[in-house]
Amino acid sequence: MANVILIGTQWGDEGKGKIVDLLTEWAEVVVRFQGGNNAGHTLVIDGQRYALHLIPSGIMRPEKICIIGSGVVIDLKILLEEIDLLQKQSGRDVLPQLILSDEAHLILESHRRLDQAREKQRGTAKIGTTGRGIGPAYESKMARWGLRLGDLLAPEAVLEARLKNLLEQHNLMLEKIYNEAPVSFAKVFAELKEAAAIVCPVIKKVPYELARCLEKNESILFEGAQGTLLDIDHGTYPFVTSSSTMAANACASSGVGVTDIDEVIGVVKAYTTRVGSGPFPVELDDEIGEHLSVRGGEVGTTTGRPRRCGWLDLVALRYAALLNGLNSFALTKLDVLSGLETIKVCTGYRLHGKIIEYFPSSIEDLEACEPVLSEFAGWDEDISAILDYDQLPENARKYVSYIEEQLGIKAMLVSVGPDREQTMIRHNPFVE
Ligand code: GDP
Ligand code: IMO
Ligand code: MG
Repeated sequence: MANVILIGTQWGDEGKGKIVDLLTEWAEVVVRFQGGNNAGHTLVIDGQRYALHLIPSGIMRPEKICIIGSGVVIDLKILLEEIDLLQKQSGRDVLPQLILSDEAHLILESHRRLDQAREKQRGTAKIGTTGRGIGPAYESKMARWGLRLGDLLAPEAVLEARLKNLLEQHNLMLEKIYNEAPVSFAKVFAELKEAAAIVCPVIKKVPYELARCLEKNESILFEGAQGTLLDIDHGTYPFVTSSSTMAANACASSGVGVTDIDEVIGVVKAYTTRVGSGPFPVELDDEIGEHLSVRGGEVGTTTGRPRRCGWLDLVALRYAALLNGLNSFALTKLDVLSGLETIKVCTGYRLHGKIIEYFPSSIEDLEACEPVLSEFAGWDEDISAILDYDQLPENARKYVSYIEEQLGIKAMLVSVGPDREQTMIRHNPFVE
C-alpha cells in the first residue's frame, strides 16, 4: 500500500493523464485536487484515445474510485458532458465510480464570461487562458461569495439566495466594467437544479471518504493538473493558472494529512512545451521546434492551440524538484527525440551577462534570460516499441542518466509512446 502524488514539473501537458491511468492499476482511489476543465489529460488504451478534463484519469478502470477534491473548480455542464461521452465510449455508466467534494467550488456561466471579457480587455497582454472561467472561479472562492457543490444539497431558498448574491456582483462587473450583457439568473438557476438532480447522490465529504480508504489500507493516487511553472505562487506569475499546482496542495485540497504521503512523482516531458503567453527561455522557433511540435503532436487537448516547444530546461526542473520534494520522476515522450542528430539541454541561464542557476521570480528577468545549452549526441532508432529499458539506444540511456544526475532522483519510468503499454516501469512505488 502507498499513497502517491503525481504532478507536472513543467508548464503542463507532460503526460500526467497517461501515467495516472497506468499507475491506477495499483491504486484503489484516484484524486484530482486542483484546477478544473482547463486541464486536458489524454489517455490511449489499446489504440483508443480518451480526453479527460475534470474526471480523474483512473476512470477507465471500472473497479477504481475517482474523487474530485475541494480544491477543484467544477463546471457541472462540462462534468455531465464528460460523463456522457465516457458512457458512449466505454459502454458503462461512470457516475457510480465518482465522488465529488461538497466543498468544491462551482464554475458558472458568469465565471466563463468574465474570464473571456478580461482576456479581451487585456488585448496583446492577455494571459492566454483557456477561457474556461478558472481564474474568476478561484477569485469567487477567495472573495468568499463563491457557490460550492454542497450548496446544491441545501434548501432551494438557500441556493437561490447564494446564487443571486454572486450574480449581482458578476453582472455589475460584466455590465459596468466590461460593457457586456448580464447573465440570466433564471437560466443559471434552472441549469444548476437540472445538474443537481444527477450529481447530488455522489456529493460527499471527501476527507472522511479518504480517511476510510486509509483505514482500509487502500492506496491513493493524487493526480495533479497543469504544472509547477503554472503555479499561482511559484510559477511565471502572472502567466500562470489560478491554483496551487504543487504536490503539497494535494493534501490541503483533498483533506489528507501530509504524513500519509509515501512518494511524490514529477512528470517530466523529455523536452519542454508551453501553451498561452509568458516567458519561455528554451523556446525554439526553428526546424527543431517544428520537429518537436509535429512528432510530439503538440496541440492543446483543451483548446486545440499549438503548444510552443523547446529543449529540456534543467534550471526549471531543478526548481520543480525542490518545490515539490520529488522522490522520483516519470520521463515521457522520449520517443519524440528520435531522429535528432544533436539534443540540447538547458543547464543554466545567462542573465545580463552573468550565469545564474536559479529560476527567477520576475518575468522581466526570466524574459531576459538566455539558455546556456549542453549538447548530447542523439539517436536515430524508433524506440516506441521498446519494452525493456536496457534495449534503449545507448545515447537515449545517457540522456536519461544525465537528467537523473542533474535532478538527484531516478526516473521511475520511461514512456516512449501515448499508449498505456508503451511504458517501461523501473520502480513502482505501489509494489516496492
Ligand atoms: P497531461 O495534460 O499532462 O495529461 O498531458 P496531455 O495529455 O495534455 O499531453 C500529452 C500528450 O502526449 C497526449 O496526447 C498523450 O497521449 C501523449 N503522450 C503521453 N506520453 C507519451 C509518450 O511517451 N510519447 C508520445 N509520443 N506521446 C505521449
Ligand atoms: P494540463 O492539466 C497546459 C495554461 C493556459 C494559460 C494559463 C492560464 O492539461 O497540463 P487558465 O485557463 O488556467 O486560467 O489559463 O495556464 N494552462 C495549461 N497549459 N496544460 C494545462 O493543463 C493547462 N491549464 C492551464 O494555457 O497559459
Ligand atoms: Mg494537458
